[in-house]
Amino acid sequence: METYLIRTFGCQMNKHDSERVAGLLRAQAMTPVESAEDADVIVFMTCCVRENADERLRGQVASLKALKPGRGRGPLIAVGGCIGQRDGELLLRQLPHIDVVFGTHNVSHLPALLETAASQRRPQVEVLEESSEFASDLPTEREHPWHAWVPITVGCDNFCTYCIVPYVRGREKSRPLDDIVAEVERLVADGVLEVTLLGQNVNSYGRDLYGEPQFAKVLRAVAQTGIKRIRFATSHPKDLSDETIAAMAEEEAVMPYLHLPVQSGSDRILGSMNRVYTQREYLALVDRLYEAIPHLALSTDIIVGFPGETEADFDATMAVVRHARFDQAFTFIYSPREGTPAATMDGSVPREVTQERFDRLVELVHACALEKSRGLVGTIQPVLFEGASKRDESVLTGRSPGNKVVHVALPEHATAEHYAGRILPVAIGEAQTWFLSGTLGTNL
Ligand code: 5AD
Ligand code: SF4
Repeated sequence: METYLIRTFGCQMNKHDSERVAGLLRAQAMTPVESAEDADVIVFMTCCVRENADERLRGQVASLKALKPGRGRGPLIAVGGCIGQRDGELLLRQLPHIDVVFGTHNVSHLPALLETAASQRRPQVEVLEESSEFASDLPTEREHPWHAWVPITVGCDNFCTYCIVPYVRGREKSRPLDDIVAEVERLVADGVLEVTLLGQNVNSYGRDLYGEPQFAKVLRAVAQTGIKRIRFATSHPKDLSDETIAAMAEEEAVMPYLHLPVQSGSDRILGSMNRVYTQREYLALVDRLYEAIPHLALSTDIIVGFPGETEADFDATMAVVRHARFDQAFTFIYSPREGTPAATMDGSVPREVTQERFDRLVELVHACALEKSRGLVGTIQPVLFEGASKRDESVLTGRSPGNKVVHVALPEHATAEHYAGRILPVAIGEAQTWFLSGTLGTNL
């Protein structure tokens, strides 16, 4: 086994898990390749939050069958992440050319499972109920040298009625504050400029360890390490405290960007989703945030077509989008997940109705995003550059503090690599819905 390919679906936690898988395989002296044909090992890090991710995974694995004329020949195929955790043995019955199934709690066992699958020419399935390891105790191969994901909690205790995550990621467990700080200190020493603190609900960080949420303390302690930029995801409105808002406003390293899923604007639907807040409470929170951080960029998640959603419920969601002035909203059509309470609720909304609402919502979201972007024209934004744009080699691309994509022309005689991982000022001249463009300044 000399080469590997990792395909990642789903959320940032999965991206981080994929970086850990890459770190583990590199530690076995394996090297990454771009195509399945060149890979000795193909690892899928999977997501089952909605049905389409589920289907795509099955389609992709099925299409690899041609590369495997028989057991022990062709690449080893491993399926991990949330589908591995949920389906275990079942995956092998459906897709018998899989060699290894692993779950969300045992990423570190992957090299050993691959080894056994190869030497015994028998598929290996290992799915554990609970985790004994904390994510970052493992080697990690970061996608960008200047950015690191830092898990601060794993699992979720909220049991929103539509969501499969608590069943596949387990109960919420926080990582001790000292461990988090020590890791970020190591990352800073290693040249990392930006960390993204990860958890299903970062705002309840510490409840299991210290008896009450302590996320504000995490932000302040991580800021002390000297890291340049701190981001975090995801926030649950019910647990976002005033202390956290104050830490966001006061700590320069904490970026003025917040992902605050609302899911619906209707109190009735929010109740049946078990979200534990009302539209009024959500909007009051948004108002407090803009008051404390006037240039805040705000994004959200919204589900359309939850069981029982009426036109009036949907109008309430549209009203929230107008009021909250989101910079971005990730919009999803409700997808029933077996085993969740919502999957057995009455009142499923016909597909055409959901689609029509969804289209109207997307149009409004685009208009709000463009308006927010336009508000940045004429400002100077410190941009963390990532390199050349994938579409155009002569364009440099990076991110503003508010997480907007920013494009500038690559200066003559310069290489994009020279700029990658640097924070430089950009005078914003033009705004599109999803990106800004401007001219590069020289110093910050
Ligand atoms: N159907 C549609 N969207 C869902 N999400 C979670 N579960 C479902 C589901 N069953 C969305 C929520 C969540 C995001 C990560 O995915 O909006 O915030
Ligand atoms: Fe799912 Fe709700 Fe937990 Fe988010 S907070 S992971 S939506 S159960």
